[in-house]
Amino acid sequence: MFENQVKNVWVVFFVMALAFSAGSVALAVQIDLSVDDCIKCHSEEPEQIATNGGAHKTEINCQECHQGHRPISQNNIPACSDCHSGSAHYEVAEPCIGCHNPHQPLKISIVGDQKQVCISCHAAPEQQMADNPSPHATFACTFCHAETHGNIPECLSCHEPHSASMTQANCSTCHQAHMPLVVTYPDSTASELCAACHDSAFATLAASKAKHSQLACADCHAGKHKSIPACTDCHDFPHPKAMHERFPNCADCHNIAHDLNK
Ligand code: HEC
Ligand code: HEC
Ligand code: HEC
Ligand code: HEC
Ligand code: HEC
Ligand code: HEC
Ligand code: HEC
Ligand code: HEC
Ligand code: HEC
Ligand code: HEC
Ligand code: HEC
Ligand code: HEC
Repeated sequence: MFENQVKNVWVVFFVMALAFSAGSVALAVQIDLSVDDCIKCHSEEPEQIATNGGAHKTEINCQECHQGHRPISQNNIPACSDCHSGSAHYEVAEPCIGCHNPHQPLKISIVGDQKQVCISCHAAPEQQMADNPSPHATFACTFCHAETHGNIPECLSCHEPHSASMTQANCSTCHQAHMPLVVTYPDSTASELCAACHDSAFATLAASKAKHSQLACADCHAGKHKSIPACTDCHDFPHPKAMHERFPNCADCHNIAHDLNK
């Protein structure tokens, strides 16, 4: 009995509140609000849902999230976890609405230093950085991937190239962003790229009349920076056995690989 009275008072309050805020619209409003009513008093949210609502437009509606309305329902704001559970991303400590506006859930604004949230979906880059320490591994992901999701910066926005002719496209020949100190490169790497730092080796080889000058640096120093091949990797032991036993070092007669002394 008493409960009913209280409820009736709230109904009156609510209709008054609606009337106050919506004027003549209130006449048509029932206490049972329908989804079509929301737009009569709220413009921003329906607008956002209409243009960028994504699954929050197609899969659900206002009232599946906002059950009831003030003043009868004091709290009609849902928790994301009411509907999203069962993945590492839905367990992150950061507040969901820091990145997601529920009315345009995929228009994500990324602010502040973020790492844990990113790792909730991208475990591999973090693992790569942990396994291969570098200054990059000490930064938040958003130090580089800032503002919008998926944004990829150029190395050259923070670093100088090794030579004037080197471009952004060259960087990935030798470096991977998440393990930049592990320098590896394909056999097809142009010798000019090595020459940025090894100009004298490049000049010596280029000036040599021996056939090695036809080879690229990466043909011999293959795969990994600072690898040094053995002559026998390619030539085996071409001379009589007795001679190799007497002079075990090819260099005794052939000088250096970059300038064979015949
Ligand atoms: C007749 C006008 C009117 C209609 C229709 C209306 N609202 Fe509201 N709504 C308001 C007013 C006024 C407030 C602010 C109330 C307050 O601050 O106590 C409000 C507040 C809210 C809030 C914030 C509640 C909070 O706790 O901060 C939500 C969510 C909301 N409305 C959702 C809806 C939805 C969903 C619909 C449609 C089903 C809807 N409203 C229909 C007038 C209306
Ligand atoms: C996926 C669930 C979801 C859907 C669908 C949804 N909302 Fe919301 N809405 C929320 C959440 C969560 C908040 C609280 C956001 C915050 O605290 O910043 C909110 C906040 C609001 C507010 C209060 C805004 C303020 O600044 O206080 C209004 C009004 C509102 N929603 C109206 C609507 C209307 C109208 C619709 C349908 C067109 C709708 N919402 C659809 C989840 C939803
Ligand atoms: C009433 C249930 C409900 C609530 C509450 C809810 N969601 Fe959703 N959300 C869904 C459904 C259903 C989908 C579509 C299926 C899916 O992706 O799980 C969805 C999809 C999404 C998507 C993907 C959108 C797309 O277009 O692919 C994001 C992002 C999202 N929700 C974030 C949130 C956040 C953040 C909150 C809390 C502010 C929230 N949701 C609250 C039901 C809900
Ligand atoms: C630091 C920003 C950030 C925070 C905080 C955040 N998210 Fe996300 N969320 C994202 C990004 C980025 C995506 C990926 C969107 C894409 O695939 O384009 C995403 C995608 C989603 C999706 C849809 C895709 C999927 O894989 O399910 C849902 C649902 C979602 N988030 C819910 C949540 C919930 C719930 C919380 C809070 C527990 C939350 N998010 C916190 C950034 C964030
Ligand atoms: C909910 C899961 C989710 C979260 C959280 C998330 N991502 Fe993603 N991310 C994805 C998916 C899925 C893709 C691939 C789809 C695409 O290209 O949009 C992607 C793509 C990317 C890409 C590559 C884009 C490209 O062009 O190859 C980068 C970079 C990226 N995310 C960085 C981040 C960073 C940094 C964070 C943390 C702020 C983050 N992501 C949070 C799911 C997520
Ligand atoms: C120092 C800058 C930097 C930092 C820090 C960084 N990234 Fe990246 N990331 C890049 C660049 C540059 C690329 C483009 C690919 C490349 O050049 O190797 C990339 C590529 C990606 C991609 C798409 C390609 C791939 O490898 O899957 C994802 C996803 C990604 N980063 C996520 C992350 C996450 C998650 C973190 C934090 C744990 C992070 N990144 C930290 C610079 C960075
Ligand atoms: C947002 C800025 C930023 C971007 C983008 C970035 N770096 Fe860095 N990088 C740094 C900073 C800061 C350091 C640490 C200070 C330093 O050594 O310059 C660093 C360190 C390095 C180091 C190690 C230097 C050392 O002596 O330990 C290498 C190698 C490197 N970066 C290569 C790259 C490559 C290659 C890319 C592109 C794939 C890249 N960086 C993208 C900011 C960036
Ligand atoms: C041909 C291979 C190669 C290419 C291409 C290359 N690098 Fe490097 N880079 C290296 C090597 C090798 C080192 C390590 C030198 C050492 O051990 O001191 C290095 C070191 C670095 C460093 C650490 C500081 C320094 O200058 O020694 C940065 C930063 C860097 N590279 C950025 C870049 C950027 C940016 C690009 C693209 C413009 C690029 N690299 C292209 C091979 C390359
Ligand atoms: C950013 C500059 C840089 C680039 C680019 C670079 N190197 Fe180096 N390289 C160095 C430095 C620095 C050393 C160490 C020199 C020392 O220890 O005296 C080195 C050493 C070497 C060594 C000798 C290792 C040893 O044990 O003596 C070889 C071989 C080598 N580099 C080959 C290459 C090749 C091949 C390329 C091209 C794919 C290349 N480098 C690109 C900077 C670079
Ligand atoms: C990556 C493979 C490779 C390595 C390592 C290598 N070479 Fe060669 N070398 C070649 C090729 C290819 C030729 C050209 C063969 C031809 O055209 O007949 C060649 C030619 C030669 C020739 C003949 C030169 C000429 O101009 O006719 C000599 C001598 C020689 N190599 C000695 C050496 C010595 C000594 C070493 C070690 C310091 C060495 N090579 C390391 C691949 C290699
Ligand atoms: C035919 C194979 C071969 C080619 C091609 C080659 N190298 Fe070498 N390089 C070697 C060998 C073998 C050594 C070890 C010392 C020696 O025998 O000459 C060496 C030594 C080096 C060293 C360390 C000693 C020094 O001279 O500083 C560097 C740096 C180097 N090479 C860089 C380069 C660069 C840069 C190129 C391309 C311009 C290149 N190499 C082309 C086989 C080669
Ligand atoms: C005692 C001196 C000596 C030693 C040690 C030596 N060579 Fe030679 N090598 C020669 C001479 C002399 C020639 C013939 C030069 C010419 O024809 O111009 C030659 C020729 C070659 C040729 C070219 C063969 C051809 O058919 O054109 C190769 C390849 C070669 N040596 C590789 C090696 C390798 C690899 C080693 C070490 C395992 C080595 N040599 C050790 C003296 C030596």
